[in-house]
Amino acid sequence: MNLSLTAILLQILLLCNNVQGKYIYVASYSGNISVLSLTYDYFASTGSSAYAEDGYFAGFAPQKKYNLSVVDTFKTPATYPAWLTLNKHNNLLYLVDGVTTGNGTLTAYRTSSKNGTGPPIQLDCVECLLDGASAGFYANGKALAVVHYTRSALQTYDITAANGTMKPLQTFTYTMSKEGPAGARQAAPHVHEARTDPLEQYVLAIDLGADKVRVYTIDDHTLLLEERAALNATPGSGPRHGVGCGITAYRVKYLPNRGGLQFTELPNGTYSSLEPGVSKPDTGGKGITAELRLSPDGDFLIVSNRRDARFNGTTAQYPPSGTSDSISTFRIRQHLGGKLDFVQAAPAGGSLARAYDLNSAGNLAAVGIQMGSRVTILERDLGSGLFKEQVAEVEVEGEIWGVLWDYKAND
Ligand SMILES: *[C@@H]1O[C@H](CO)[C@@H](O)[C@H](O)[C@H]1NC(C)=O
Ligand SMILES: *[C@@H]1O[C@H](CO)[C@@H](O)[C@H](O)[C@H]1NC(C)=O
Ligand SMILES: *[C@@H]1O[C@H](CO)[C@@H](O)[C@H](O)[C@H]1NC(C)=O
Ligand SMILES: *[C@@H]1O[C@H](CO)[C@@H](O)[C@H](O)[C@H]1NC(C)=O
Ligand SMILES: *[C@@H]1O[C@H](CO)[C@@H](O)[C@H](O)[C@H]1NC(C)=O
Ligand SMILES: *[C@@H]1O[C@H](CO)[C@@H](O)[C@H](O)[C@H]1NC(C)=O
Ligand SMILES: *[C@@H]1O[C@H](CO)[C@@H](O)[C@H](O)[C@H]1NC(C)=O
Repeated sequence: MNLSLTAILLQILLLCNNVQGKYIYVASYSGNISVLSLTYDYFASTGSSAYAEDGYFAGFAPQKKYNLSVVDTFKTPATYPAWLTLNKHNNLLYLVDGVTTGNGTLTAYRTSSKNGTGPPIQLDCVECLLDGASAGFYANGKALAVVHYTRSALQTYDITAANGTMKPLQTFTYTMSKEGPAGARQAAPHVHEARTDPLEQYVLAIDLGADKVRVYTIDDHTLLLEERAALNATPGSGPRHGVGCGITAYRVKYLPNRGGLQFTELPNGTYSSLEPGVSKPDTGGKGITAELRLSPDGDFLIVSNRRDARFNGTTAQYPPSGTSDSISTFRIRQHLGGKLDFVQAAPAGGSLARAYDLNSAGNLAAVGIQMGSRVTILERDLGSGLFKEQVAEVEVEGEIWGVLWDYKAND
C-alpha cells in the first residue's frame, strides 16, 4: 500500500462516524425481558508520527468506544424468565420459565419487529412443567428440548410451524432410588441442561442430582427421542452444563447405528474451574461452576464461576458488594488429547456471574451479574483467548438469569 492511498484511508476512517449496532436479550426474575443495544464508535488516537520510514502507516489504531443501553423492556408470560435461546434456523427466540410453583411456560417470539428496529413479538406460549432451567434445539432446529430442574424432567416440542406454534412431543421424568452424596442438591434428579452432541445425533440431558448425563437418540423424521445408556459421572460431582464443580473431560465414542455414546474420562481429565492454586471458597454447598462454553474457534473453554468472589473493588465497580466473580479460560490442547491449559481468571464485573454469552465473532462476552442487576461487556483477544477489560455495562432491573446475543445483528 502506498503513502497516498493510506492517507486517503486514514481520512475516511477519521471522517466516518461509524456506529455499529448489536442487540442482547436479557431475562430477569423481574418477569421481563430487556433488549439491550450495544453500539460503538470508532475514534482515532491523536498525535504521534503516523508513518514509518518505508511509507507504511504505523502509528494509528482505531479504538472502539462502546455504548450499552436498554432500548426495550417488556413483560413476559413467565413468572421467572430464566433461559433464552435463539433458533438460527427460523430466527425465533424461546423463553423458559423458572417458576417453582404450579406450571411453567414456554414462550416463542419473533426476534424483532419493524424490520429489526422494534421489540420481539410474542407468537405462542404453552404451559409446561415448572422450574425450567434451560433448553436446547435438536434435529436442525426442528425441535426443542426443555429441562425442568426440581420437576426432574425433560419435555420436547415440535417447533417446525412457521407461525411459532409449539407442539408438545414427549415428557421424560426421572426418579432416583437413593440420595446422592452432595446433600440437598442431590436429593432428587435435577436436570440442568439439554444439548446435542457435536454431530447432532443425540440429545444429552445433564442431571446434576443423579450424577448422570442421560443420552437420547433422535429420530429426525418424527422428532421423537429414545433413551440410550447414560454416562454415570463420579458420585457427588453434580455435572452441570457439561461439568460439575470442576471440569471433567471425556472422550466420546459413537456406537454404530445410533446405539449410543461411550464416554471415557480422559487421564487426569478433571480440573478445577478456578485459577490453579486457588482453593474452593465456602459457598455453603451452593454451586460455583455456571456457564461452560467453547469459543467459536473451538480453541478455548470458557467457564463462569458464581460465588468465587475472586476480585476486590468498589461497590460501583463490582455491584452489589464490591467483589467480582471470575470467568476462567482454558486452552484446549487438541494435539495433547484434549488436555486443558489454564489461561486466565478475569473479573466478570460483580457478584453471581451466572449467565454469559459470546458474540458470534468471539471477541465480546456479555455477562449477567445476577446479584448486581447489571450486564457487563468484556472484550476478548481471539488469538490469546485473554479477556482484556470491561468495555461497557448497564443496569437491568431484577436478578439476571439469561443473557443472549442476537447473532443476526453481529458482525
Ligand atoms: C447510548 O445509546 C443510547 C441509545 O441508543 C443513546 O440514547 C445515548 O445517547 C448513547 N450515549 C452516548 C454517550 O452515546
Ligand atoms: C416490566 O416491564 C413493564 C413494561 O412492559 C414495566 O412497566 C415494568 O416496570 C417492568 N418491570 C420491571 C421490574 O422492570
Ligand atoms: C420494512 O422494510 C421494507 C423494505 O425496506 C419496507 O417496505 C417496509 O415498509 C418496512 N416496514 C417497517 C414496518 O418499517
Ligand atoms: C402442569 O403441572 C402438573 C403438575 O406437575 C403436571 O402434571 C402437568 O403435566 C403440567 N402440565 C404440562 C403441560 O406439562
Ligand atoms: C400455525 O401453523 C400451524 C401449522 O403450520 C397450524 O396448524 C396452526 O393453525 C397455525 N396457528 C395459527 C394461530 O395460525
Ligand atoms: C497424571 O498425573 C500424574 C500425577 O501428576 C502423572 O504422574 C501422570 O503422568 C499423569 N498422566 C497423564 C496421562 O498425563
Ligand atoms: C479481598 O478482600 C478480602 C477482605 O479484605 C481479603 O481477605 C482477600 O484476600 C482479598 N482478595 C483478593 C483477591 O485480593
